Amino acid sequence: MYQAPRGTSDILPEEQPFWRYIEQKAVNICQLYGYERIDSPAFEDADIFIRTIGEETDIVEKEMYTFEDRGGNKLTLRPEGTAPVCRAYIEHGLHNLPQPVKLYYITPIFRYERPQAGRYRQHYQFGCEAIGDADPALDAEVIDVAWRFFASLGLRQLSLQLNSIGCKQCRPQYLTALKDYYAKYHRDLCPDCKTRLKRNPLRLLDCKKPGCQQLANLAPKSIDHLCPQCAEHFDRLKRYLGLLEIPFEVNHRLVRGLDYYTRTVFEIQPEAEGAQNTLGGGGRYDDLIEELGGKPTPALGFAIGIERIILNLKKQGISAPPLPQPQVFIAYIGDDARVEAIKLAARLRQAGTGVIEAIGNKSLKAQLRQANTLNVRHTVIIGEDEIKTSTVILRDMTTGEQKTVPVSELSESLK
Ligand code: HAM
Repeated sequence: MYQAPRGTSDILPEEQPFWRYIEQKAVNICQLYGYERIDSPAFEDADIFIRTIGEETDIVEKEMYTFEDRGGNKLTLRPEGTAPVCRAYIEHGLHNLPQPVKLYYITPIFRYERPQAGRYRQHYQFGCEAIGDADPALDAEVIDVAWRFFASLGLRQLSLQLNSIGCKQCRPQYLTALKDYYAKYHRDLCPDCKTRLKRNPLRLLDCKKPGCQQLANLAPKSIDHLCPQCAEHFDRLKRYLGLLEIPFEVNHRLVRGLDYYTRTVFEIQPEAEGAQNTLGGGGRYDDLIEELGGKPTPALGFAIGIERIILNLKKQGISAPPLPQPQVFIAYIGDDARVEAIKLAARLRQAGTGVIEAIGNKSLKAQLRQANTLNVRHTVIIGEDEIKTSTVILRDMTTGEQKTVPVSELSESLK
């Protein structure tokens, strides 16, 4: 028996209302703030991700689906959405538009991770990117979009974690302070953190091992090592978030798992589970576009995992509105009636009424059972008598009441 590949899943019709609900809320919020949709290819030149996400990250080291195509090109299935949007921004000269350019996407993401609840090898992200301005008001807006999006879904008890990890100018001093601090505790570090200390010291701060967490809690804080410009940027962002009445917690251990971030980083987590089940995250990436060969262009964004939203909606007992479905079922008795049923269904659909036809040679009882399971409002029944008199029987599926209606008046009666 074939199965969907490990870490992937089918989204069956019964789950679709959640997906459409989330998508519609995402589209609404983006329209409200002036973000326009962009769709990029499912795969890109592997280098785009290696250069921007960073060679010392889990994603690039262990999780990318990279393959060589028949033309010998090294390609990678999109492991995140930011670098492709930046590539498109450069490729299409979007810097010529009024800045910032504000884009959003809803797209599958591929990461070879160890599958568990809320962690898959293919997941979907709703993401926003605002490119072309360094103003902290833009940081506040982007965070506001994410925050209001969750509110519009009805999700409660979320916490916004915020940090600033500085820029090219101030980060090196901070990293030195971090390394000096950790060097004293080298013996106590887990094997992974020993490697991080050498290769990517910022990542020491989000090790999940209890011993390392204790050390991280007391480690030097990036916000204490910001240059005056980054400090001012962070102060203004906090002030603007206050104006927007968005509660936040400064978390000096928040560094994110991708290397392209500068200054602002943030994550939104369910209060109960914290970072184990982060719903979404993002931040500034002021050097990324230059790294991909564009002009220096400040930018920021976020992405939110759709499967994790659904898990949290279910946990909080929030259901999605049902999707529109045909409300009329046509049942028939005998071959001649079947011909009438086909003609009638076509006419009703042309008039914009959704119809499900009985298919096959089932008994009337079986057809009515089917109509019941489909949850339609009305069933139209055609038999020999009805053909002779150009009528149909119209059955109200809630009350079970039946009446005979001339075919010519059926549309009107259904309304
Ligand atoms: P990320 O934190 O790697 O950021 O992913 C964003 C969100 O995607 C996570 O918070 C989580 O909800 C969801 N997610 C990530 N991995 C998985 C997985 N294996 N299974 C299920 N859900 C997952 C980024 O990808 C950045 N590109 C965000 C960003 C946009 N930064 C700036 N702009």
